[in-house]
Amino acid sequence: MKLLITGGAGFIGSNFIHYWLKNHPDDKIVNLDKLTYCGNLENLQSIEKNPNYKFVKGDICDLNLVGAILQENKIDTIVHFAAQSHVDQSILNIDKEGRESNETIQKLFEHSLPYDFVLNNTWGTHVLLEAAVKAWRGEEFRNKKFHHISTDEVFGALPLDDAGKFSESTKYDPRSPYSASKAASDHLVSAYYTTYGLPVTITNTSNNYGPYQYPEKLLPLAITNLLENKKVPIYGDGKYVRDWLYVEDHCRAIELVLEKAKIGETYLIGGLTEDVNNLELINRVLAIMGKSEEMLEYVKDRPGHDRRYAVDWTKAKNELDYKPLYDLDTYLEKTINWYKENESWWKRIKSGDYLKYYKKQYEKR
Ligand code: NAD
Ligand code: TYD
Repeated sequence: MKLLITGGAGFIGSNFIHYWLKNHPDDKIVNLDKLTYCGNLENLQSIEKNPNYKFVKGDICDLNLVGAILQENKIDTIVHFAAQSHVDQSILNIDKEGRESNETIQKLFEHSLPYDFVLNNTWGTHVLLEAAVKAWRGEEFRNKKFHHISTDEVFGALPLDDAGKFSESTKYDPRSPYSASKAASDHLVSAYYTTYGLPVTITNTSNNYGPYQYPEKLLPLAITNLLENKKVPIYGDGKYVRDWLYVEDHCRAIELVLEKAKIGETYLIGGLTEDVNNLELINRVLAIMGKSEEMLEYVKDRPGHDRRYAVDWTKAKNELDYKPLYDLDTYLEKTINWYKENESWWKRIKSGDYLKYYKKQYEKR
């Protein structure tokens, strides 16, 4: 296969590239990434000289660039990860007093405009779809695939202490600028299947964790804070539930989709079968790291915080033979060990612009 991976320098994209080259060494990969604050080529250092891997720095919103990449590399499969992916960043600049001026925001964090979410996630996906149709229509889409990576957050929030879970038939109800921009991108992907016959598949996956995750998300932030002997900020009462998916299980699920899924189908991918709330999750991390509950710091809640996500991945299990390989504790330990062993990776991140973000996000909470 000849794959175009978008956003391959980010967390899941870089894990996917490692996974794919290990399991499909003869396939060719082009990685298109514009290297936003969380795009990091260090994630891919060990394979950068692999003759079957090529990096292109560029934007998925650039139709000519994407078209040229598809033609020149005879790409037959697109796996689309590129996005702005952090909910807090998507709401950071709006507070009770209203929106800060554009100019101020731009000076502070070029990368964290809420508008960036619609631009990269929705518009970017639209451009990519157009480029794929233009490049592949002549061959009537023969042996072509466009796989779109999305999130369970498009379904909104479930109540606590409820047996209900998201499934492929759950109605979309996104509640943050991030999830709304992803929901819009999902609809565009489906529309290109219906309208043009573009051979698409979609996965809506739960909260990923593992190596190379930018320490703005809960688990890498908690683990690296604890390694620095700093407290872990817990939003609100901490009784928020997420479905935790180890990134390698996610990569295997995408592989199964590319190999076995029916075109036009959507699959939900999750990691757990029972609810674990943020407090329980971080308590497990504390136990593995030999730290006490004194390292928790309750802070002001996130606006519009979704109470519970839970994913029913029965369809992926039945149709694709998907299931997570190990349990949460095994994966948490593996993840903690990775951050222990790769201190220079996260210390470099935590010493740059990240400090400004951390101050703005947590100082006054
Ligand atoms: P990430 O933020 O770590 O990486 C995103 C990558 O996309 C970065 O390398 C960035 O430079 C690149 N990018 C952003 N805009 C771009 C553009 N316009 N052109 C080219 N490159 C661009 O994100 P992640 O956590 O790896 O998430 C990857 C995908 O998975 C996203 O689509 C996200 O919505 C989805 N997802 C993530 C999670 C999760 O828990 N992290 C869960 C479900 C779904
Ligand atoms: P996060 O990793 O940002 O993922 P998402 O919002 O996409 O689910 O957050 C996971 C959960 O952890 C969510 O309920 C918010 C909470 N959280 C904290 O309590 N403290 C933090 O510092 C962060 C980043 C998140």
